[in-house]
Amino acid sequence: MAALKTLSPVQCPSWARLAAHAESWRSVHLRELLAQDRSRAAQFGAEACGVRLDYSRQRLGAMTLRLLANLAGERGLADWRAALFAGKPVNSSENRAAWHTALRAGALAPGEVQETLSRMKHLCAKARAQFRRVVNLGIGGSDLGPRLLADALGDGALDVRFVASADPRELERALEGAEPARTLFVVVSKSFTTPETLANAAAAKAWGGNNFFAVTENVDKAKAFGASEILPLWNWVGGRYSVWSAAGFAGACATGFENFESFLAGAQEIDAHFTATPLEKNLPVLLALVGVWNTNFLDCATHAVLPYAHALRLLPAYLQQLEMESNGKRTDREGRAVDYATAPVLWGAEGTPSQHSFHQLLHQGTRVVPADFIQASANALQRANLAAQADALALGSEDGQYPGNRPCNILTLEKVDARNLGRLIALYEHKVFVQGVIWNINSFDQPGVELGKQLARKNLSGGK
Ligand code: F6P
Repeated sequence: MAALKTLSPVQCPSWARLAAHAESWRSVHLRELLAQDRSRAAQFGAEACGVRLDYSRQRLGAMTLRLLANLAGERGLADWRAALFAGKPVNSSENRAAWHTALRAGALAPGEVQETLSRMKHLCAKARAQFRRVVNLGIGGSDLGPRLLADALGDGALDVRFVASADPRELERALEGAEPARTLFVVVSKSFTTPETLANAAAAKAWGGNNFFAVTENVDKAKAFGASEILPLWNWVGGRYSVWSAAGFAGACATGFENFESFLAGAQEIDAHFTATPLEKNLPVLLALVGVWNTNFLDCATHAVLPYAHALRLLPAYLQQLEMESNGKRTDREGRAVDYATAPVLWGAEGTPSQHSFHQLLHQGTRVVPADFIQASANALQRANLAAQADALALGSEDGQYPGNRPCNILTLEKVDARNLGRLIALYEHKVFVQGVIWNINSFDQPGVELGKQLARKNLSGGK
């Protein structure tokens, strides 16, 4: 690890060049760029693993990309990436690996991962045969991933619900019409100490629940709780990177295990692409570089994700944790306060409903919000709307009512299936990793959540 670069990005020669280069872009409008250069879509596009990225509506050119790639090189991206995949302790503050790629490495996965997948397969078939309802009790990374998977791809064979909130109403709603003997609770908590999850698990017992599985690193606590099956999580799996592990169990119950395997296989394809593809055609790297350009050099403070597929309506919520818990940091790997922006605020919702809600601000608000449009449907109305929104944002109107010059990416998948969902999530994971490398921050810890937890504990114990 000592050999990995810890130089601040602003000290890298390319940073100053990018800052100077950005000045020459202030007066350039996407309307002219797109009109002058019909080959722009081909030049600023890349495709791999069934995913096409069109970033021709970004305010950048070939030189911008070269400088951004140089910056990634100066920050030692290739070495950091090798360390990530080798299971080295890239989570330096906790001295741990962030080895989620090992969870989807197929025949090359560690033995304990393969054994756990076999157990999951068996237990998933059992759950689908024996129970009517599965209720996942977990929060953050122990909720958002399996919830997205189940919502996007659940086949209806089993009624799978998710309970994360400290508000008891969520559990009450998840249990309406359920019978204790036909209901399986899956308590997912890496630490098995998270108060919201433990409170919901206790309430589920009080309701009469007597079928509990646990997914955790803390086997003793799960045993003491009375779980009949305990599926492991390892300390090298971060919560927000855990959907590929047994933390995804309720998702696998909802989709069927074959789909879960395709989900892993899709992510594995992106891993291979990320490790082997030159930077200028590397999808996660391109997403990251474009994001750094918008954040650090064009001063955009937020980023919208707009999936034009109902099945992906929970993707923005999933990505909020992934991007903001990973890269929402104000100190670098050496503990120095940074003097450059890190993760933008990520937000979004399913398009087309979003068009009738907040797109007013996207088109005419005073802040520029770069957006990722995700196209994953053959439906003509959705496709026409997506293309219209991307063009309206980029081109605006000649009369000045719509300023335009608002950048976006379009990510296109053939359809929402398990393989494509795996590809999409892995793509964003590696985007986050590359940005963390460029910003010299540890994307794998979350010290910022601790103070609030301590104060809540104090409040609960009467201020002591
Ligand atoms: O509070 C933040 C966090 O630690 C997340 O990183 C994590 O996904 C979530 O809480 C749940 O943690 P656990 O799985 O240990 O219950």
